[in-house]
Amino acid sequence: MDKIRVKGGRRLEGTLVASGAKNAVLPAMAASLLTSEPVTLENAPEVRDVTTMARVLQRMGASDTRLKDHRLILEVPEIRAPEAPYELVKTMRASILVLGPLLARCGEARVSLPGGCAIGARPVNLHIAALQKLGARIEVEHGYIVATGRDLRGAEITFDAKTVTGTENVMMAATRARGRTVLRNVAQEPEIEDLAALLSAMGARISGAGGEAIVIEGVEKLHGAVHPVVPDRIETGTFLMAGAITRGDLRVENCRPDHLGAVLEKLKEVGVRLAIEDRAIRVLPGGPIRAGNLVTLPYPAFPTDLQAQYMALMTQAQGTSLITESIFENRYMHAGELRRMGAKIDIDGHSAVVQGGTPLTGAQVMATDLRASACLILAGLVADGETTIDRAYHLDRGYERIEEKLRKVGAAVERIH
Ligand code: EPZ
Repeated sequence: MDKIRVKGGRRLEGTLVASGAKNAVLPAMAASLLTSEPVTLENAPEVRDVTTMARVLQRMGASDTRLKDHRLILEVPEIRAPEAPYELVKTMRASILVLGPLLARCGEARVSLPGGCAIGARPVNLHIAALQKLGARIEVEHGYIVATGRDLRGAEITFDAKTVTGTENVMMAATRARGRTVLRNVAQEPEIEDLAALLSAMGARISGAGGEAIVIEGVEKLHGAVHPVVPDRIETGTFLMAGAITRGDLRVENCRPDHLGAVLEKLKEVGVRLAIEDRAIRVLPGGPIRAGNLVTLPYPAFPTDLQAQYMALMTQAQGTSLITESIFENRYMHAGELRRMGAKIDIDGHSAVVQGGTPLTGAQVMATDLRASACLILAGLVADGETTIDRAYHLDRGYERIEEKLRKVGAAVERIH
């Protein structure tokens, strides 16, 4: 099992290029089920979750998907088996994203319940309720979601809570439902807009993605398309905080500053100097980092996927910060690992009080989820001595060759097999 070893004390300097967004390429891959024609995704990140999703699609009948030079070509001439088995779904919850497209394409689906993960129970009740409103008949039995629906009909659906993959699942199902679907209280993340752009390129009639309501007029058929995957705002935010925590001079190219509004505002508020261009952001060396409170909320507010990285940064700030994680019920697993490096963090339910100005020392730590792993790398970059992060596979799920990227800008980071 791979480990990542980080030696602290190096400032990051230079330029990094953001990859395509993991949380955009996964729904886009699922959307390829909606047509028998090839769908080409450009700027696709070479991360483990893409490989896993490709395996899920191949089980269903996709031809072998080729990911070369960040170009992914997906083709599902026919659905051989509308099933996502437990052994694959348990390794990647986002497999639930095949449910809506399978229903739309072939009127049936058998998808393993994703189950929980380190950060929370991760239920899918909102996905199921919304698909039932489109006319799907859904049973949950023996750990599987068994859905049928050969004649999905458009409907007015208001989600009880904002759900990113729930919104994406229902958007995809509605593209081939008869009539008009209006979705309200939808997630507004950039990845939703990116999926809508792909679906439109495939012939779907969809408007309003990224806003409060999404309107979809069902169509008979969808065709193939070529689509550039939106840059990863979470990877970008992670790198910006790596630059800030090491007091470095780091530029991130091929990114979307307009997708990071709340994050850039927060970083400026705590004293990080930023130079913002159209498709690049540069962190500049500046004065001391100040403490700053944070509440994670659905987009366009500060994303939960950058909460752990921000916590690492606040251990080095002047003063005490209060962090409130309002999206997931158990997303502070990284706090225990940071404490082992010398951080002073008190957790009380959804709140974390982070004392700043705490020198960190290198230690053996364990990654519990994708973003917690990134947080531990950031802490390792400033810790005195060497930090070894176990279970590096978490990182590989959503960060493309992160140790190579960070080494390129001066970090002493290596992978130990
Ligand atoms: C997506 O997960 C992202 N994953 C997550 O990124 C991200 O943290 C999350 O959205 C932010 O909301 C992908 O896009 C593949 P949700 P998703 O449905 O869709 C509750 C990463 O690190 N909920 O928006 O699974 C849920 O428990 C990952 O890249 C229900 O109660 O999240 C949570 O508290 C981690 N019932 C909240 O809603 C449901 O049916 C938001 O979950 C669905 C969700």
